[in-house]
Amino acid sequence: MTATPPAPIRVAVTGAAGQICYSLLFRIAAGEMFGKDQPVILQLLEIPVEKAMQALGGVAMELDDCAFPLLHGIEMSSDPAVGFKDANWALLVGSKPRGPGMERADLLKDNGKIFVGQGKAIDENAADNCRVAVVGNPANTNCMIGASQCKRITADRWTAMVRLDQNRATTQLAQKAGVATTDVSDVYIFGNHSPTMFPAFHLAAINGRPAPEVIGDDAWLQNEFCPTVGKRGAAIIAARGLSSAASAGNALIDHVRDLSTPGAVHSVAVKSNGAYGFHPDVWAGLPVKTTAPGQYEVVQGLPIDDFGAGMIKTTNDELTSERDTVAPMLGG
Ligand code: NAD
Ligand code: LMR
Repeated sequence: MTATPPAPIRVAVTGAAGQICYSLLFRIAAGEMFGKDQPVILQLLEIPVEKAMQALGGVAMELDDCAFPLLHGIEMSSDPAVGFKDANWALLVGSKPRGPGMERADLLKDNGKIFVGQGKAIDENAADNCRVAVVGNPANTNCMIGASQCKRITADRWTAMVRLDQNRATTQLAQKAGVATTDVSDVYIFGNHSPTMFPAFHLAAINGRPAPEVIGDDAWLQNEFCPTVGKRGAAIIAARGLSSAASAGNALIDHVRDLSTPGAVHSVAVKSNGAYGFHPDVWAGLPVKTTAPGQYEVVQGLPIDDFGAGMIKTTNDELTSERDTVAPMLGG
């Protein structure tokens, strides 16, 4: 007897005609985000501009042309009320990327307001169990803005992506130690998705041993590893002329898959509620353990040394200052 396949889940994705989505959507449709047995319906959102909607039509044609068995439907809209209708997951990618010489926070003026409207539309239209992942930069603070518009889709359901930073840190440690990325574990990102983030190398392990002991070079960890991870996005923009796209899509696959996998421990920006000394109302990258699909708890009590405390203070100060900047956009 064959088992009845589960009902499709509805996945709303904004910025669907953009760079990141050109890799992300195909991987969701192939079952890499929600599993190889889970059908999906993609609800693709773009801006109400002919060129964007036409490009989105092309992306949908290419998705059709893959004949993905798990892709049970594609819906396209430029109306957030339609795009987020009954969505079980909302992946908020759509927003402006930075160019060379800019910091992500420079995008707040243009991008912040997108999340006011989308937050409201999600609260009014999404499914009761909706979970949200914010990618559009500056991701932590955009997530805070979106969550602040909501009553039904509560703040704990709103997460922002720091998984790309975790993945970057993992590879940097693996390359330095001359091991495979699978030999590196317990890599957690604290704070903002910005150069102030703290990739907590003192907690990381390489083949089960503390990373600082294996690497044996604290100066490299503090003065090269941290800035390399923190400024990797800018390095990619300088090299490609465009911001990271395939690696960002890959990180979002990891982010949502691990939030759907009980027992997974990974880096997610969530409302801090004061953990590790962060301002309670900012969204900070933190180590998070998935307790049930879509539910998590912050891993508390990990040791933070003086260097880490200094890094956390700096990134918290930046998050707090971004929060002050967007205060007029915060609802509730
Ligand atoms: P892109 O310019 O290629 O695509 C963005 C798309 O979003 C465009 O097609 C645009 O029309 C659309 N869009 C803009 N406003 C929208 C709205 N209100 N509703 C729906 N769609 C909208 O950019 P990209 O390379 O795909 O990057 C998207 C965002 O992701 C940028 O802000 C970028 O900085 C950010 N990003 C974040 C991370 C991270 O780790 N958090 C990594 C990479 C990129
Ligand atoms: C990244 O980290 O690659 C993205 O946030 C894009 C950027 O602006 O750096």
